[in-house]
Amino acid sequence: MKVTIIGTGYVGLSTGVCLAFIGHDVYCVDTDEAKIEALRAGKTPIFEPHLEAVMEAAKARLNFTTKYEEAVPGSDVVFLAVGTPPLPSGSPDLTYLSSAARTLGSLMGDRFTVIVNKSTVPVGSGNWVDSIVRDACPAGDFCIASNPEFLREGSALGDSLYPDRIVIGSDNPRGLDVLYQLYRPILDQSFTAPSFLPRPGDCNSAPLVTTDLASAELIKYAANAFLALKISYINEIGNLAGKVGANIQHVARGIGLDKRIGPRFLNAGIGWGGSCFGKDTSALISSAQEYGLTMPIVQAGRETNYRQRDHVVEQLLGALKILKGRTIGLLGLAFKPDTDDLRDAPAIDIARRLIERGARVRAHDPVAMANAQQQYPTLGVQWCDTEEQLAQGTDALVLVTEWDQYRDLDWARLKTLMRTPIILDGRLFLDRAKITDAGLQLISLI
Ligand SMILES: NC(=O)c1ccc[n+]([C@@H]2O[C@H](COP(=O)([O-])OP(=O)(O)OC[C@H]3O[C@@H](n4cnc5c(N)ncnc54)[C@H](O)[C@@H]3O)[C@@H](O)[C@H]2O)c1
Repeated sequence: MKVTIIGTGYVGLSTGVCLAFIGHDVYCVDTDEAKIEALRAGKTPIFEPHLEAVMEAAKARLNFTTKYEEAVPGSDVVFLAVGTPPLPSGSPDLTYLSSAARTLGSLMGDRFTVIVNKSTVPVGSGNWVDSIVRDACPAGDFCIASNPEFLREGSALGDSLYPDRIVIGSDNPRGLDVLYQLYRPILDQSFTAPSFLPRPGDCNSAPLVTTDLASAELIKYAANAFLALKISYINEIGNLAGKVGANIQHVARGIGLDKRIGPRFLNAGIGWGGSCFGKDTSALISSAQEYGLTMPIVQAGRETNYRQRDHVVEQLLGALKILKGRTIGLLGLAFKPDTDDLRDAPAIDIARRLIERGARVRAHDPVAMANAQQQYPTLGVQWCDTEEQLAQGTDALVLVTEWDQYRDLDWARLKTLMRTPIILDGRLFLDRAKITDAGLQLISLI
């Protein structure tokens, strides 16, 4: 099939590369010329494991362009995968989506085309996109579908090729059939898996959820809010565990072995960040408001999450008594390991709160440094190229992002560089014995 993907960010690029890998002819369109130029040269503009390798393997069927007219005409499927960042009101900014839909509408030809919202958009957005495209192309032979994306940054390629499920929603049966055909190699797992990203042993097929437009749109928000709540729940229990002297990791294991609950997303710590959970929970609340409903559980999950960032400052205050004039080093900037994404990253918020209290802040990250320097030039953080540079003269190091390499740091060496050898483990990730044996004090966030 001929497929166009509009918006070549984390989602659009991962989707486009995987669809080309399984045999489709894919055109990735983006308005960002530098991004398209880099992609044409075989370089990925984001850090995402295996992306470059899958892109290389699929390059014969991958095209990158800034021009809609080179891609849209003759497409069987057009994905809209542009950003939907949060507005101050909490609802998502849909201007990129409407602009893409308008341009797309002006280029629709005679061929039946399925226009798919892959961006996370509120219920009703499918109908809205339909009206925008229809205005531009009244007689167009097209239908609208929703195909929410569940990939996780850091494992986007594996999540796309071996998904837990694929959800497609449309009120047009023909459109649903086209999407079924598009995804068939993934649903049947009939494609040859890349050697560097082998098929998991338990993945023989991927379940397909076929539904109407509104249900597919709501599934995405409901799933993300549930995952966010699960993390906030374990953090709330964790804060109590800290007070009563219980071990939250043992508590989480004891809960998670119950098959009704499951062990994942029960890691207590600083809490979630990233481009989705914050944005999608606030969009869900704001959508509910339009119907006169409140979402107190989702609201509480958000409050618990963002309070964890204050908790880091409180723990440092408890250990150091005075923050003014202290130097704090942050290990990790990205909102989670294996990505360079800084959207709603706890590290940025924590840095800001510490600076407000008069501390000096340094930070290190294995892959997100360039993004940090570019996006936060006035934050007042000293960016450090190595962990040694970070530790030099610090009063405490805070583990913010659980990058693997931080588990095996040479703690004895770092101790010689620090002014006060205090480590605050914000993710309950570090090896306590290694750190205390090296003579440092380890404080756990929970
Ligand atoms: N990042 C994730 O982990 C993730 C996971 C699931 C769903 N989503 C959703 O997917 C959507 C995209 O997210 P993302 O993280 O890939 O965003 P992103 O910001 O990384 O990428 C969006 C891209 O769209 C491009 N763009 C904007 N307007 C355009 C236009 N009119 N025409 C063509 N290109 C345009 C931008 O230049 C950018 O490259 C969002 O709705 C997000 O909520 C994201």
